[in-house]
Amino acid sequence: MEKYYSHEYDVIVIGAGGAGLRAAIEASAMGAKTALICKSLLGKAHTVMAEGGVAAAFGNVDPQDNWKIHYVDTFKAGKFLNNWRMVELYTKEATERVLELERWGALFDRTPEGKILQRPFGGHSYRRLCHVGDRTGLELIRTLQEHGIHQGFDVFMEMTITRLLKDGKRISGAFGYAREDGRFNLFRAKSVVLATGGLGKLYKITSNSWECTGDGFALAYEAGAELQDMEFVQFHPTGMVWPPGVRGLLVTEAVRGEGGLLKNSLGERFMKNYDPEKMELASRDIVSKAIYQETQAGRGTPHGGVWLDITHVDGAKIKKKLPSMWEQFHKLADLDITKEPMEIGPTTHYMMGGVRVDPETQSTNIAGLYAAGEVGCGLHGATRLGGNSLSDLLVFGKRAGESAGKFALSQKAAPRVNEKEIEDEAKMMLAPFEREGGENPFVIQSALQELMQSKVGIWRSAAPMKEAIDELSKLKEKTAKMGVSGTRLYNPGWHLTRDLPHMLDIAETIARSAYERQESRGAHTRDDFAKPIDETWGKVNQVIRQENGKVVLRKEPVPEMPAELKALFQKEVKKNG
Ligand code: FUM
Repeated sequence: MEKYYSHEYDVIVIGAGGAGLRAAIEASAMGAKTALICKSLLGKAHTVMAEGGVAAAFGNVDPQDNWKIHYVDTFKAGKFLNNWRMVELYTKEATERVLELERWGALFDRTPEGKILQRPFGGHSYRRLCHVGDRTGLELIRTLQEHGIHQGFDVFMEMTITRLLKDGKRISGAFGYAREDGRFNLFRAKSVVLATGGLGKLYKITSNSWECTGDGFALAYEAGAELQDMEFVQFHPTGMVWPPGVRGLLVTEAVRGEGGLLKNSLGERFMKNYDPEKMELASRDIVSKAIYQETQAGRGTPHGGVWLDITHVDGAKIKKKLPSMWEQFHKLADLDITKEPMEIGPTTHYMMGGVRVDPETQSTNIAGLYAAGEVGCGLHGATRLGGNSLSDLLVFGKRAGESAGKFALSQKAAPRVNEKEIEDEAKMMLAPFEREGGENPFVIQSALQELMQSKVGIWRSAAPMKEAIDELSKLKEKTAKMGVSGTRLYNPGWHLTRDLPHMLDIAETIARSAYERQESRGAHTRDDFAKPIDETWGKVNQVIRQENGKVVLRKEPVPEMPAELKALFQKEVKKNG
């Protein structure tokens, strides 16, 4: 085998969005020799696409707010499939994590008394979203990055990890390649934290950028980790629909938080027919499905969306509170949002399902492997509330980094790396160069995206999903015959030949889990099973894993919430009569 670069660490963190940065900060602060590995450049992460705010129940604007109400709201949105302990830890710790961010230099918008300003968002009972205009995710990444680079961890940019390595049942590191020179790199490590974000690129219309191909889900799955609730993919209600080149690009929920109204082609505020109480600020699954139904009923805009109108709000205020949105539409659609409505439609935004983790430690079923942020699972249940992802990645990024650091520092000997695993991976990666005239990876990718969009999208039913499962296996066969030309340096075609088998594996877990869940719940809507099976509590999580190359799916009872937390819901019921 050709020579590869070799590195040795206590902890490696794969993925450098908010969760990865927060984990690396924590692990390195404990004295663990830590590396942060980014597929792209440091700072270019999907975290920045959580624009409208970070949810934390300070009660700065609405003093009635507190962690208990945040707990209830998160559960209601998640349709009771959430892990109660994760939600408890999260809602209790979110405020401290935001204050810590402030101590590290984050500059939030302020109330007149100088407190962190909070805005409304869909499904939150009170104004709860701490924000920096409509650039909150960007400020979060900037702050973590600036704090992190002084921590002394190493950063590897433009490095794609293609396989996790194991020593028996324990993690031993990861293997991948650098896009800059096309050379292979081995990372020996006692602990690995997956913080690779989401999988929007499995779909045709998405707010996610090229990096979001579901790597972490696939790396974990291939290594034998369990995935959970993979049927729950979030379609954010508002992505751009025009011009075609920017279709799917996020239009922050903060537009609705600042007063934006949704209207159909008849000028009606159609949300009155779907959620008359919450209207535009209903939870994302409800708003996305409403938009879908309006367009299907022929009440859509010229390019297949609906209108988002904020022209009734003072122009100077829009430019102050939503500067990125103003610029985005001005530059990309030649449209002034202070004067004309925006044309928007649902866009694949976030994955609620993911690697099954222990709520306290974020550990997986593989010793030394942890997952945090979007790639992890348990907090959000069947739908995530806007703004809950930014505080999720702070709370559980910290916890994952701490657990990974502790585990690594408790291990005397470095785990062994199996040379055969590395050789197999390198051989597989280089094979497409040998296949002149082989299958084109871009054609397969576009078939996959089309398939997931049309058959495992917002509106699902058994027959198309069954077809999708069959078609996915045909696409898998094609990936075995993919060919590429050119060199190994910055070669997107070659890169895609390794991403695709991962993407197809994960697409299959989504399609199979969605096919199996014969009910509609949160972001998972079935034409043929229109109602939740159990109205109140939601009884099962679906767990999926690979065993001897076969997909094994099982149903696990949702962990029972302790009585004192259940009581929070009874209080809520009483309060609302
Ligand atoms: O609409 C938004 O600003 C997105 C926020 C989120 O996904 O949490």
